[in-house]
Amino acid sequence: MADITVRNLRFRFDEELDFDVPDETLGMMLPTLGLSMTMPYLEPYLIRTMKVAIPKIASPQLVEDTKRFSQQEGHHFRNHATFNNRIRSAFEPDTEAALRGIEADLEADYQRFTKEKPLRWNLAYAEGFEAMTCASALAMAEQGAFDGDMPGGEIWPWHMAEEIEHRTVAFDVFDHLVGSYFYRIWFGTRAQIHYLSYIKRFAQCMARGLGREIPRGGSELTRSAGRRYLRTFSPWYDPAKIELPQGVEQLLERYSQMAGPGPGAAEGSA
Ligand SMILES: [Fe+2]
Ligand SMILES: [Fe+2]
Repeated sequence: MADITVRNLRFRFDEELDFDVPDETLGMMLPTLGLSMTMPYLEPYLIRTMKVAIPKIASPQLVEDTKRFSQQEGHHFRNHATFNNRIRSAFEPDTEAALRGIEADLEADYQRFTKEKPLRWNLAYAEGFEAMTCASALAMAEQGAFDGDMPGGEIWPWHMAEEIEHRTVAFDVFDHLVGSYFYRIWFGTRAQIHYLSYIKRFAQCMARGLGREIPRGGSELTRSAGRRYLRTFSPWYDPAKIELPQGVEQLLERYSQMAGPGPGAAEGSA
């Protein structure tokens, strides 16, 4: 059983984005903003997948976890949609239009996957995405990157902490309804390649709009995320067994306090 709290938070994004940063910072910033741009399409696709899966799940506890997973993802993508308006508006109209074009391509892909792909394929996509995101979120927590000042502010520690919190759900649903290690690895990896190709498109589009280039080379954060990501390929990988880095529980508690006891109880800000 996962312990998942649905926090109804809405953040504000009043600050202008500042791209006047060193190349190394830009190299982290643009893919991160690209990640935000995917969320209003990726997360509804995950929710649609789980909606199809839920009636087939025999365990009432896993059904409950899956519903909470979807509710968390729902709050995530709504906040990202607001933030993305801020991101697009930081660029000239031609770049803004190009970003919208990439968004349309991504939405068309995900709608097609929902309509045409079998449930096990969509579940492998969900777990491939969740395993990769959880690896990055854990690396961020471990490296203290949650304390950074990435544009968007609190949306990142909140979202990443909740990704860690619901890390077992897509894995457990896949395991329960499909259960094939090789299918998880083969189609999960294809899913990650598909997803990352869009991060790259968004980041390169923004870089072109700024007249800058994204520098090559990794940071300690990307190396740590890479090490954690490689562990997801193990046949014994089980997100329930991951030891959480210090500070994750406190962050989740902080956002629980911010959200208050019921829906719409409080608004966060960033
Ligand atoms: Fe999410
Ligand atoms: Fe997630």
